[in-house]
Amino acid sequence: MSGNKASAPQLELQGISRHFGGLKVLQDVNLAVPRGGIFGLIGPNGAGKTTVFNLITGLLPPSSGTIRFEGQDLAGVRPHQITRRGIARTFQNIRLFKEMSLIDNVIVGMHTHLNYGTLALLLGSADFRQREQQARERARELLSWVSLDHKAHDTADNLSYGEQRKLELARALATEPRLLLLDEPVAGMNSGEKTEIMKVIQGISGRGFTIFMIEHDMRFVMGLCEDIAVLNFGRIIAQGDGTAIRNDPQVIEAYLGRDDDEPSDPHPAPRATEVPA
Ligand SMILES: Nc1ncnc2c1ncn2[C@@H]1O[C@H](COP(=O)(O)OP(=O)(O)OP(=O)(O)O)[C@@H](O)[C@H]1O
Ligand SMILES: [Mg+2]
Repeated sequence: MSGNKASAPQLELQGISRHFGGLKVLQDVNLAVPRGGIFGLIGPNGAGKTTVFNLITGLLPPSSGTIRFEGQDLAGVRPHQITRRGIARTFQNIRLFKEMSLIDNVIVGMHTHLNYGTLALLLGSADFRQREQQARERARELLSWVSLDHKAHDTADNLSYGEQRKLELARALATEPRLLLLDEPVAGMNSGEKTEIMKVIQGISGRGFTIFMIEHDMRFVMGLCEDIAVLNFGRIIAQGDGTAIRNDPQVIEAYLGRDDDEPSDPHPAPRATEVPA
């Protein structure tokens, strides 16, 4: 555990379980994500990692347990309200508006936050135009954080796979979160792309955002995260820094016979998909 983060965790899961029918996907999960760091969640395929994010973001309710963000219980809070409270995420499969420009993809991400009045939109009021201008400036800034500002007016489908992943990061940041959840940010990337996205994530972290990432690539996780939790068959089996995790007998057993400690990715590259309109 990092020494200077003794204050209350920013995100806290207590006794979280989730069942799908008879399938116990998560069982008594306790997690405390400190503010301002890069926290990692790893575990074999099907361990329940994405389900953790689906519970945090309100896409699914837990079967039991409590999730608190900055001290507030998220029970019953709708996904868009959770976004407004300061949690954003990216998905395991890329979801972009591929026919739209990069800058417009980011601006779409802002709309939950900006809450433009429909009337202002219809009337094209001065207030709306001013906010539109501010939104464009902010979108450009976010694109610069992921080194894509030079392509602001290209369409998203012209981007390489690695660039699409970066655009997703910029779009998630557009909701002005304080906590950013990343579901396998380097799945399917080559090593050059991984190195680049690692720098981007470190840059975002350096700006004060808390990052909670799910990732299979052990080297990537160990290189970025100061604190790592390991999920196996729906239970947290270990938590600690990279060295503690690497040497934990239960973790070694969970990964026995797997290639996850190699730089190669155990997942095939996911296909980019468009967000349904
Ligand atoms: N909405 C759902 N309905 C029924 N079963 C589900 C649902 N969501 C997830 N599951 C099941 O829960 C288990 C855990 O899924 P989850 O996607 O959380 O795993 P994961 O750790 O993210 O895996 P991966 O590394 O492959 O992404 C799987 O058996 C999955 O089929
Ligand atoms: Mg997953």
